[in-house]
Amino acid sequence: MIANEIKMKVPYLNLGLQHKNIKEDILLSIGTLLDSGQFILGEESLRFEKRFAALCGTTYALGVANGTDALFLSLMALGIGKGDEVITAPNSFLASASSIAIAGAKPVFADVRDDFNLDPACVEKAITSNTRAIIVVHLTGRPAPLDELLVIAKKHKLHLIEDCAQAVGALYKGKPVGSFGTTGCFSLHPLKNLAACGDGGVITTNDETLYNHLLKARNHGLANRDECDFWSFNSRLDNLQAAILNVKLNELEKWTNRRREIAGIYQNKLKALDLILPMDSANEKAVYHTFIIQTARRDELKQYLADAGIDTKIHYPIAIHQQRAAKTLGYKPGDFPVTEKQTQTILSLPIFAELRDEEVNYVTEKILAFFSKKK
Ligand SMILES: Cc1ncc(COP(=O)(O)O)c(C=O)c1O
Repeated sequence: MIANEIKMKVPYLNLGLQHKNIKEDILLSIGTLLDSGQFILGEESLRFEKRFAALCGTTYALGVANGTDALFLSLMALGIGKGDEVITAPNSFLASASSIAIAGAKPVFADVRDDFNLDPACVEKAITSNTRAIIVVHLTGRPAPLDELLVIAKKHKLHLIEDCAQAVGALYKGKPVGSFGTTGCFSLHPLKNLAACGDGGVITTNDETLYNHLLKARNHGLANRDECDFWSFNSRLDNLQAAILNVKLNELEKWTNRRREIAGIYQNKLKALDLILPMDSANEKAVYHTFIIQTARRDELKQYLADAGIDTKIHYPIAIHQQRAAKTLGYKPGDFPVTEKQTQTILSLPIFAELRDEEVNYVTEKILAFFSKKK
């Protein structure tokens, strides 16, 4: 038996550390905003949207209240609702599917590949005469196989909506995610790579008509202060959050590079083990929102790391089609074998820009020690 003492504590994430270095700039920005009194749809929001569009290489970016609304508003704006089907991944965060259901359409799932992204062959099999769109999720921050999915979408006349909640800054064949689909939908939730200090989201698009519709849709359907063109609701990004995000946007590239560096250490140190590791390919620049390894000994390893002071997570332990909320969709165990297997084998290791090399090395040291033990 190998001794498993705690040498150091490694948290899964430390948001406090993220803000430490940029706190003064954030406070300054908030102070200016308090003086201006411009809390809704002001200069900071416009500046953030412009910069976000530039980051994604799209003509437009539109701040909304959260990532779920970004998906829901996209579906609504495309007229997708009752009687329609939208295909998405069952291994994603719930919102990829709940946004479809809330829009009144039916979420239809297709299984994924080892890298957690939609398997194009499974997507094509799931298409029916009612299918209107595919919500492709760039899960873990790795771009999905966009070329193949775009061919399928074109062939069957479907919209491709990109769920980029975990993938801000990721590139597919050198081009940013969020610029391939009819819309790109981003979350700015505090746990995301680019995060508000609260909720937030963005929709990107190159379609001017859609953009003009979404501008109204996020703001009660108002064409101007007094005239309402259609019923809608309030889903605006707070100007205060935009002010904070404008500070954080300056750091994003540096943060992403550090995430990729940490991923490189994990890959290098763990590659000899009997694990499925996330690996890069020439076509993609992943931004490692999560670093998820796959092992049949997941629960045992998770406990071993916890005993060594290392926090890990499972994204996600229950697949969406296995949730109680999805009961009426009629799926049964075995429908999505890759996803279902992954719920038993996946383990997310700590990864965030402020994580130190010695902490990453401690994690790999403990994983190596675990696998050197007899079963
Ligand atoms: C893949 C994915 N889609 C959608 C969302 C929803 O975003 P939000 O929490 O901002 O509504 C999230 C994150 O929470 C996510 O990870």
